[in-house]
Amino acid sequence: MATNQVLIFDTTLRDGEQSPGASMGVKEKLEVAALLEQLNVDVIEAGFPASSPGDFKAVETIASSIKGPTIAGLSRCKKDDILRTADALKDAKSSRIHLFLATSDIHRKYKLCMSKDEVLQSMYDAITLAKQYFDDIEFSAEDASRTSLEFLKEVSETAIDAGATTLNIPDTVGFAVPEHYAAMIRYLKEQVSRIDEIVLSVHCHNDLGLAVANSLAAVGQGARQVECTINGIGERAGNCALEEVVMALHTRKDHFGLETNIDTTKLYSASQLVSAVTGLDVQRNKAIVGQNAFAHEAGIHQHGVLMNPETYEIMKPEDVGLAQNQLVLGKHSGKHAFRRWLSQHGFLTTDDTVRFLFDHFKTFVDQNHKFAEADLEIYLREKNFLRHSLSSTLSTPLSL
Ligand code: KIV
Ligand code: ZN
Repeated sequence: MATNQVLIFDTTLRDGEQSPGASMGVKEKLEVAALLEQLNVDVIEAGFPASSPGDFKAVETIASSIKGPTIAGLSRCKKDDILRTADALKDAKSSRIHLFLATSDIHRKYKLCMSKDEVLQSMYDAITLAKQYFDDIEFSAEDASRTSLEFLKEVSETAIDAGATTLNIPDTVGFAVPEHYAAMIRYLKEQVSRIDEIVLSVHCHNDLGLAVANSLAAVGQGARQVECTINGIGERAGNCALEEVVMALHTRKDHFGLETNIDTTKLYSASQLVSAVTGLDVQRNKAIVGQNAFAHEAGIHQHGVLMNPETYEIMKPEDVGLAQNQLVLGKHSGKHAFRRWLSQHGFLTTDDTVRFLFDHFKTFVDQNHKFAEADLEIYLREKNFLRHSLSSTLSTPLSL
């Protein structure tokens, strides 16, 4: 793997599915997995085979049908889980077991009731057992961002000694801030023996709205796998959003100097599919894939975009799979966008018509906040403002 390559590990079907109300059936999961394959993600975490027969079936089905990306299954550090995961992934062309065990004091004390030595022994034994079935083994130190650095170093060295090939440092509860998380990754890179023999991975939750920022900060310190989900769905406030982290790396290559394998032109359709199968709407102003992400309403912006899109767009809509940007008519729109809208919808665009209609349109939208372009279109058709019609009258008042 090139040193400037960031692997994209998609966990929409596992952590994403842990969003309240987002559970998917096997058929839907397979559909999403097929789109993730087109998107060219490096790893698809298809589920947690030991958690339910449905999850086992989904992982097994995806493993036998999707042959591009590596297919991963989540597993606790328990013999039964490991065997079940190996069984679910037996037909995969390329498979990975993703073992996890919590390492923070609070999780050890209240959830696991395990000492530090017991955690180290348990993870060592699990990785050793997993080696009998898998070449590709990821170990996650759950709640790593609230684990002491000294213990995290021990955990990391134990994972590497036991045979893990990817070491994941999750911010399980979304507690980290970019400087803190970056420093943690830097510490591990500098202090853990043989760290350069494995892929260092990050997995951030969005409780403080920092999942993408934290992931990018970690990548800046040498993490080379980012775990993320389409639309950022996931437990509580969700996970790092795949489309955001990928487009940040892509758009700011000047800053990061890093690459992913993602076909960014599939991002919009992936977002739409995940929203459709989970029933979770995409926030209108969501970065990259929200309805407003490439829409401009302000007149000054619209004029700029018509002259040269780069005045107000840092990405091309086509790069994420949208046909074009959208100049939305509204209270703040200018005459240039209004003229383009008339022309695109087949109406007259003589200077007189545009001036007349625009003045009335502005008065109308000032008074009616719920203006809809569809109503304007109906009105103009009724009043014969169509390009081919010569009977239009400029004295007709605009009252939708
Ligand atoms: O958030 C988390 O810690 C996880 C692990 C299982 C990787 O999802
Ligand atoms: Zn998680």
